[in-house]
Amino acid sequence: MNIAIDGPAGAGKSTIARRAARELGFLYVDTGAMYRAVALYMINNNIDFSDEEKVSLAVKNVNIDLCYENDEQQILLNGKNVNSLIRTPEVSATASKTSSYKAVRERLLDLQKDIAAKNSVLMDGRDIGTVVLPNAELKIFLTASSKVRGERRYKELIERGEKADLSSIIKDIEKRDEQDRNRAIAPLKQADDAVLVDTSDMSIDEVVNRIIELKNSISE
Ligand code: DC
Repeated sequence: MNIAIDGPAGAGKSTIARRAARELGFLYVDTGAMYRAVALYMINNNIDFSDEEKVSLAVKNVNIDLCYENDEQQILLNGKNVNSLIRTPEVSATASKTSSYKAVRERLLDLQKDIAAKNSVLMDGRDIGTVVLPNAELKIFLTASSKVRGERRYKELIERGEKADLSSIIKDIEKRDEQDRNRAIAPLKQADDAVLVDTSDMSIDEVVNRIIELKNSISE
């Protein structure tokens, strides 16, 4: 059985998906991390990420693998664990652009399908219910207003002792949404058969419980 969770940046997908997967005994697959690792490769190799042709050539040299340490997904870029390097604003902005290219998506699609064919996965991303796992038994589209998503991100940064500016965070989120929703290939979109969960006024526990309820209602 596979569960697909899609939604925009900052809707809490990865925190929620990780916890729900653990409680349900599913393998958690964060596909955004794969796109981030590809973006990191472009940054490290000084590839102009706005040049689709150059990125499409370079991506042939990228091998992405996943492994799990203490239940946490680790992302390997050409054999090197890059988990701690892929959450920077530079990687976020680059990934939003490079993930719009066909060659990049093709490179990751087979890997994603293969993992889901071999395991019971809870996979999160933007196109999981629409493209990667169109036959997933349960599809969830998680969303929240851009204001709430921005405030959550702001809080996270402040708690980590980093500097943050709320209005530019919200602007950044809206820009990424716009790019993710309007790209030609595999745009961010709610699948027709996905359940919409708006997390704006929900706690993490409430959302995790909702996902477990939805899963249990289809297994009965
Ligand atoms: O979920 P995230 O912020 O880690 O995703 C990073 C980028 O990758 C984001 O701009 C959207 C893109 N992405 C995608 O295009 N398709 C996916 N299945 C997952 C992420």
